[in-house]
Amino acid sequence: MAEFKEISPNAPAGEKLLNWVDNRFPASKLYKEHLSEYYAPKNFNFWYFFGSLAMLVLVIQIVTGIFLVMHYKPDATLAFASVEYIMRDVPWGWLVRYMHSTGASAFFIVVYLHMFRGLLYGSYRKPRELVWIFGCAIFLCLMAEAFMGYLLPWGQMSYWGAQVIVNLFSAIPFVGPDLALLIRGDYVVSDATLNRFFSFHVIAVPLVLLGLVAAHIIALHEVGSNNPDGVEIKGPKAPRDANGHPLDGIPFHPYYTVHDILGVSVFLMVFTAVIFFAPEAGGYFLEYNNFIPADPFKTPNHIAPVWYFTPFYSMLRAITGEMMYALIACVAAGAFFGAVKSKLPAFLKAGVVGAAVVVIALMLSIDAKFWGVVVMGGAVVILFFLPWLDQSPVKSIRYRPSWHKYLYAVFVVVFVVLAYLGVQPPSPIGERVSQVGTLFYFGFFLLMPWWSQIGETKPVPDRVTFAAH
Ligand code: HEM
Repeated sequence: MAEFKEISPNAPAGEKLLNWVDNRFPASKLYKEHLSEYYAPKNFNFWYFFGSLAMLVLVIQIVTGIFLVMHYKPDATLAFASVEYIMRDVPWGWLVRYMHSTGASAFFIVVYLHMFRGLLYGSYRKPRELVWIFGCAIFLCLMAEAFMGYLLPWGQMSYWGAQVIVNLFSAIPFVGPDLALLIRGDYVVSDATLNRFFSFHVIAVPLVLLGLVAAHIIALHEVGSNNPDGVEIKGPKAPRDANGHPLDGIPFHPYYTVHDILGVSVFLMVFTAVIFFAPEAGGYFLEYNNFIPADPFKTPNHIAPVWYFTPFYSMLRAITGEMMYALIACVAAGAFFGAVKSKLPAFLKAGVVGAAVVVIALMLSIDAKFWGVVVMGGAVVILFFLPWLDQSPVKSIRYRPSWHKYLYAVFVVVFVVLAYLGVQPPSPIGERVSQVGTLFYFGFFLLMPWWSQIGETKPVPDRVTFAAH
């Protein structure tokens, strides 16, 4: 137990109250540790806005969500009409609903940029592996949250999108059909599905999400923030002032709280512009088919998930019977390099070959649809391993060989092209391009232990680079 602190009886009432609280709850201690005495590198750039923006969007989603639940009816016969009622009759209901629907897309934009920043500056590397892993778990939760939320308006896309995605689970050998039944609570998407998705969307997943965000920040504050130079400002060799504070750090509050106001202002300008002038964002944020009530007897011509899922959806569609041969060739090539070119001990080499034979046998015997699901899931799961895949001697892109920048640029282009193709109806050219894109995406990560070590790195400075402005 912390020592009980006495305070002068003549102290102002506010100070006395704070002292009373501090003797019972670490209010001042938490404020100092996480704000006024949390030293963050002084060279943050605009990429560092997106963490706080993600927190802002989380709050917006929770607050608008609470108000939506006051009027929404989780019942297959009433859900669609209750959303229309919110839009037309509830005072300011349209604003609350558009804030929530635009917030969903904004969340993914902000989080994708936040993750890309991590990739640019090697923020997932030691000692921040857990910060990254909590982040990846947040990303998974966010996907589940958005997927289940999308069913709630009970429009055509809600219904058929859920039908397609839940049916994917039935491709899993042995347990698949039962698993799909468990998720739906029925043989087709129905009222039972709506009720369980509602319950997960409004309480279960948000609770996990909040817990993970807390863990994410606690882990970050334990090790300290990275920065665009990838230089450790709190490392053993880092210079410190007489009080032991890092010379390259500044207190988060007031410096970065004020700095973040700039990011928040720009974000809110764009966010409100979308809400007021283009809430459907050309059918990308709210799909036109979702303004038609769900009809289990009428499948829409073209079913596509919302844009933020489409890079992964494209990868799913890329896995055709033909593509399986390309994947088998990749597994065989991997086994060949593992067995012939690597320096692994003989028994491990034998293990690599054995595992490859088993995997190839499974790939030949199980339907491509299942492997599509594996690839789609694998595309997210692989992110968890990034801290160990990256073997570059330096963290930040600034000091890596110049061609790494081009590689990252190609990665972004491929990701965007996959996203675009996922929104489009299937076509032979689209299929081929998404297959190449899928191979590039996995190649980027799986071959990272090799390519991240090649090329000449630039000298990393001892101190962060910073010019006062
Ligand atoms: C609800 C979603 C999220 C919230 C609210 C959130 C919040 C934050 C905040 C406030 C920071 C510190 C400020 C900053 O560095 O920008 C941060 C840092 C970080 N986040 Fe997130 N985050 C989220 C999702 C993610 C995801 C999905 C990932 C990766 C998969 C991730 C990886 C990281 C990393 C690596 C850092 C350390 C960055 C550095 O020090 O350079 N975060 N996050």
